[in-house]
Amino acid sequence: MPIRTIHVGCTHFAHGRLQAQINANGLTPVACVDINLEAARAGVANLQGDVPENLAERIYTTITEAKEKHDAQACLIYASTTAHAKLIIESLNLGMHTLCVKPIATTQTEFREIIQAHKANPELMLVQGQNKRWNPAAAKMREWLREEDGIGEMLAGECRFWIRQNLFTGPDSRQPDAYLDGLFFHAGTSHQLDQLVAAKGLPKYVTAHIHNRRDPELGQIEAWGTAGGNALMEYANGAPFSYAGTRAGHASPFGWSGHWTFHGENADLRRDAGHLQLFRTGTCVENVNLQDLHAGLIEDDRLQFDAFADAIATGTDREWMQETTLGTWVLMEACNESARTHARVDVEAFAAKMFGN
Ligand SMILES: NC(=O)c1ccc[n+]([C@@H]2O[C@H](COP(=O)([O-])OP(=O)(O)OC[C@H]3O[C@@H](n4cnc5c(N)ncnc54)[C@H](O)[C@@H]3O)[C@@H](O)[C@H]2O)c1
Repeated sequence: MPIRTIHVGCTHFAHGRLQAQINANGLTPVACVDINLEAARAGVANLQGDVPENLAERIYTTITEAKEKHDAQACLIYASTTAHAKLIIESLNLGMHTLCVKPIATTQTEFREIIQAHKANPELMLVQGQNKRWNPAAAKMREWLREEDGIGEMLAGECRFWIRQNLFTGPDSRQPDAYLDGLFFHAGTSHQLDQLVAAKGLPKYVTAHIHNRRDPELGQIEAWGTAGGNALMEYANGAPFSYAGTRAGHASPFGWSGHWTFHGENADLRRDAGHLQLFRTGTCVENVNLQDLHAGLIEDDRLQFDAFADAIATGTDREWMQETTLGTWVLMEACNESARTHARVDVEAFAAKMFGN
């Protein structure tokens, strides 16, 4: 039996996520929520495939109203970024497992409020949606970082990320990343470093800087920390990992997945989006081209949603999904904290503060 869900956000990027839920085996949306009812109805009418009967008549403006009218176990939140924290708290307090697309919070206060609501409902699963760790290329990199056949102990690594992203969404509208501080790490870097956290957990320390670039053509005008950033992470075994990323680049050489190198005790790993190579003693021992991000990211989210459903139903990877995706938020905010204070941040101590331990 698929898990009954409430889906929040029915247009733009959120619409594709509703389609991913229709495509998923483990979830079935029983109601939708959107503050723009007219646009949401048009969005639901445009869905393909096995759309649940009457979904078009089950669109509400609040999660509370949707939950009062339809029983649901889980809630998936794809509304605008600035609404995330409030909607997550509402969903948790209504007793639903909750997955909200990154960034779940835009400030440390919001994050702590979410954690408070989760601590009051510890039996519920809380996940920050990170759709780029699920495709076959990302899964292969994780396998080589964690399993016997891979690099062995990580000794060092790097990731480079380079895109050109226009933050204007229309003549008078901009993505929140254009006016909220600190969203490069939370909305750009999190897509790559979530894959590091998923494989290797959190580093012990991080030192980060943001790029001061202002590019009015791309909507990078007044917000702090929106164009790009660099970070140096240090793992508990002493392994350094460096990151350099920009969304003000002049080309798009590696896409959202980035270019990666890892040096390990047993092997070296190289990844350019879907192309992965493993080297041992000077020889390339594996060389694979795998599916990287799917067009529109709908299949990526379908994979994520089925994993979420499985974690709720059977417990498979439940702790890993919850801890590593919340851990990614904490690491991204630790990067902001370091960049703001010009200091090296003790990530473990920072995480304890964020989780109120
Ligand atoms: N993971 C990724 O790859 C990726 C890519 C693009 C966007 N995103 C994120 O996905 C989210 C949705 O993006 P979008 O472009 O669809 O955003 P959007 O601002 O267009 O919002 C989507 C829908 O949510 C509705 N909405 C806004 N506030 C609401 C509220 N309080 N309650 C209910 N509905 C509300 C809007 O009416 C709209 O229909 C954003 O947080 C964005 O950053 C993630």
